[in-house]
Amino acid sequence: MMRVLVTGSGGPAGRALIAMLAERGLDVLGADMAPVMGLPVPTRRLPAAADPLFLTELGALVESESIDLLVPTVSEELPVLASAVARELWPHACGVVIGEADAVRAADDKLVTAQRLRAADVSVPRFARPSQLSSVVEATSWWGAPIVLKPRVSRGGRGVHLLSSDRDLDWRMIGDDQIVQEFAPGIEYAPVVYRPRAGASGDVTVVLEKSAAGDRIRRVEAPDVAALALRAAGALGLTGPVDVDVRRDPAGRPVVLEVNARVGANVGLAPELVDAMLADHARLAQETGPAWVT
Ligand SMILES: Nc1ncnc2c1ncn2[C@@H]1O[C@H](COP(=O)(O)OP(=O)(O)OP(=O)(O)O)[C@@H](O)[C@H]1O
Ligand SMILES: [Mg+2]
Repeated sequence: MMRVLVTGSGGPAGRALIAMLAERGLDVLGADMAPVMGLPVPTRRLPAAADPLFLTELGALVESESIDLLVPTVSEELPVLASAVARELWPHACGVVIGEADAVRAADDKLVTAQRLRAADVSVPRFARPSQLSSVVEATSWWGAPIVLKPRVSRGGRGVHLLSSDRDLDWRMIGDDQIVQEFAPGIEYAPVVYRPRAGASGDVTVVLEKSAAGDRIRRVEAPDVAALALRAAGALGLTGPVDVDVRRDPAGRPVVLEVNARVGANVGLAPELVDAMLADHARLAQETGPAWVT
C-alpha cells in the first residue's frame, strides 16, 4: 500500500489532508516541528524548514519509513524543497507534491506573485512597493481608503494592516520587504485548484466562499472566480495543489490577493482535489518509475 508522509501535521492543512488520506485507506505518517496530539496516524518530529538539517532529516525519514509520496503543507518548506528537487539534491525514490522551483518561489513572495499575474493579465488589486510611495495618504489618494500593508513573505494573516491615515506611522520606516495593496472590499473566496503535472489534462477547481465574519466557509458556484484561480495558477506555472485567495473589488470583479502553492486548510471541502492529486501521482509513478520527482 502507498505510504504517504504529510508535513505540518499539526497545522490546519496538514490535519485536514491527513484525515482525507486516512479515510481513503492510505498508510499515512505525519511530521511536524512540534509534538502533535489527536491525530489518527503516527507523527514524527522534523526540524523547521529554516534549519540547515531540515532536508537531511526529512530525507532520512523518507528512507527509514519507506515513504512513496511526500506532501508538504508548510509554506516555509516549499521553496526549500522545490529548490532541492530542482538541483537534484533530493536523491530519494519518492514522489514529492511540489511545483517547479521558480513558480514556487514566485508564489512565496506576494510582490512577485502580483507582478507576474499582472503581466499575464490576471486581475490583482493595484499594488506598489512601499518605497514607491511617500505616505498612506498618497496611496489612498490613488486607490481610496483603506489600503493594505502586508509582508511579502508571510502566512496566517500575520502583519496584515489596513491603513487609512499616517497617524502614528513613519512611512520611511517601512521597508520593501512589505507590499502595499489596494483594498478589495467584496466577498472573499478561497478557491482550490489542482493542476496535473507534465501537461496532463484534468484540472480540478473548487470555489469556497468565506462568510463576511470569516468564520464559516462553504462551496459555491462562481465560474468567474474558478476561472481566475485556474488562470492564476497557470500564469505562475504552478502544478499540483494550489490554494488561492480572491476577493471581489468594488465593481464586483474578482481579484487575486495571493497564491499558496500547496493544499490549504479547507481541503476537506474539496475531496476531488485529493483524488486528483493521488491519481496524478499514481500516473507519474507508473510512467517514470519510482524516482519521478525530477
Ligand atoms: N488587498 C486586499 N484586499 C482585501 N483584503 C485583503 C487584501 N490583502 C489581504 N487581505 C485580507 O487579509 C487576509 C490575509 O492576507 P493574505 O492572504 O494576503 O496573507 P497571508 O498571511 O498569506 O494569509 P493566509 O496564510 O491566512 O492566507 C486575506 O485573507 C484577506 O481577508
Ligand atoms: Mg491568504
